[in-house]
Amino acid sequence: MKLLNITLLIVQRVFEFFGGISQYIAQTIASLRFIKLIYKPIPTDVFIVTYPRSCTTWMQMIIYQLISNGDLEFNHIGEKIPFFERIPFSNIRLKGLPNPRIFKTHLPYDKIPKGKCKYIYIMRNGMDVVLSYYHFYKSYLKYHNNFDAFFKKFLDGKLQSKSWFNHVLGWYKVKENENVLFLHYEDLKNNFDATIVKISNFLGIELNKDKLKIVKQNSEFDFMKNYEEKFDHANEILLTMGIKPKNFLRKGTSDYGKIEFDDKKIQLFEKKMDEIFKSKTIAKI
Ligand code: A3P
Repeated sequence: MKLLNITLLIVQRVFEFFGGISQYIAQTIASLRFIKLIYKPIPTDVFIVTYPRSCTTWMQMIIYQLISNGDLEFNHIGEKIPFFERIPFSNIRLKGLPNPRIFKTHLPYDKIPKGKCKYIYIMRNGMDVVLSYYHFYKSYLKYHNNFDAFFKKFLDGKLQSKSWFNHVLGWYKVKENENVLFLHYEDLKNNFDATIVKISNFLGIELNKDKLKIVKQNSEFDFMKNYEEKFDHANEILLTMGIKPKNFLRKGTSDYGKIEFDDKKIQLFEKKMDEIFKSKTIAKI
């Protein structure tokens, strides 16, 4: 195991070194190493499992509201409930996560780490999924083809998350396992309160009327839409890579560099200008 881990790490580093398209291969290896060799399930771990566009984010918010009693002080929900497969190339560390560790994942049943932890699977009507996924592909993955072509790919299982049919079937087969809770998006839509009771019982979280009210209020579509930056996919990638958006238009003043630099840095800077520009006037432009 250890030897395999080290070998994979070396291969991963080689791909990382070359950058560009090799970066994707490096990320795939990093993910594989993480899932198979590094992560070890513990009984308090919880996985929110979905095929993409099946209400993963909604469930993340519901569960976080349940365990935090309505906390909204986060930049992105992914800081609280990280995207499992992306952990190895994010700034999230397993050791830094509070207990219980709750993850979101799109892994099919045959690929997910098995253990005494809990799995909440959410299935959504496939036709709603394909439409929602199509819009996601267009907005976030630079997909330029039409819906007919996308639909064919969906039916053939040729999208990023492979076959929706196999994903659902794999999890459906284990839905009676005591550590699996199999839910439908439509249950949440049509029978919110009863579904939240089910989730709380499954996770052993105490629920009362006040908490239910907060969870309901803070996970309503309009409320979440209002705070969309806390749920947006692109923001999650940026934040978990340690990139902080909203710093692009920073101060808009001149000379702040000189104020913040010490004398040594100013001298080094001016020396470099003299060397390269070979004229004192150009630097004054
Ligand atoms: P639509 O594209 O049909 O609007 P995921 O989080 O797995 O990517 O799923 C995204 C889908 O869940 C989107 O579907 C999104 O609008 C829907 N969704 C997210 N939050 C929701 C909420 N609070 N209530 C209802 N649907 C929600």
